Amino acid sequence: MNIILLGPPGAGKGTQATRLQAMRGMIQLSTGDMLREAVARGTPVGVKAKQVMEAGELVSDAIVSALIGERLDGAGDQGAIFDGFPRTAHQAEALEMLLAARGRTLDHVIELMVDEEALVERIVGRFTCARCGTPYHRTLKLPRVSGVCDVCSATEFKQRPDDNEQTVRTRMAEYRDKTAPILPYYEDRGLIRRVDGMADVDTVAAQIDAILDGARAP
Ligand code: AP5
Ligand code: MG
Repeated sequence: MNIILLGPPGAGKGTQATRLQAMRGMIQLSTGDMLREAVARGTPVGVKAKQVMEAGELVSDAIVSALIGERLDGAGDQGAIFDGFPRTAHQAEALEMLLAARGRTLDHVIELMVDEEALVERIVGRFTCARCGTPYHRTLKLPRVSGVCDVCSATEFKQRPDDNEQTVRTRMAEYRDKTAPILPYYEDRGLIRRVDGMADVDTVAAQIDAILDGARAP
């Protein structure tokens, strides 16, 4: 099964994709994670992407489509979860070709329905353990012992450079202008499934599970 998780920044795409990967053995293909890794390693793609990401704008279609193409072959029989891709009409077309070339099809496009204002707070408050990557939030989920990671006891934390209010507003605008317009493309193919992304994480997960298992959403 191959699915797309679609929604604005902070909608919960990464949270749900990580869970689906752990529970179902599907492969999470997050172009944001791939680009951050390229930036951290200083590869040619990373050098090109760094400033664009820090400004909250979209990296070129050619770069992200190539990244997805490279990783898609690693997706086994359980399929792929596209997290943050496609984000433009060109990327949607590229994905269709990449899947067709491998004899794969798209099963569902799951749209996380959210309130953008609430998302700004979700994003600006989040941070992760610098060693193990465990996610935290300054109001929703602090470490049990202040300044110490619950999982690995590290005392260093980090925040994404694009998680400040000004950049988040640009990321939201990019979503509205370039990504939301691809929804009708999938709507016409009968692939869109909507879930309430403002519910708590477990409730969102249950709604997605119901879709993947072919059951009526709770
Ligand atoms: P990317 O990394 O994809 O970022 P994004 O789309 O802006 O989304 P986020 O990762 O911030 O949010 P998310 O939906 O994954 O939510 P999360 O689960 O983390 O892209 C970053 C940049 O890379 C782009 O701006 C662009 O420059 C570039 N890029 C990437 N892909 C590209 C592409 N295809 N084309 C061009 N450029 C591309 O959750 C957010 C927070 O909320 C967390 O703290 C989480 O714990 C919390 N949370 C999650 N679910 C819930 C819930 N149900 N209730 C309460 N809190 C929740
Ligand atoms: Mg994400």
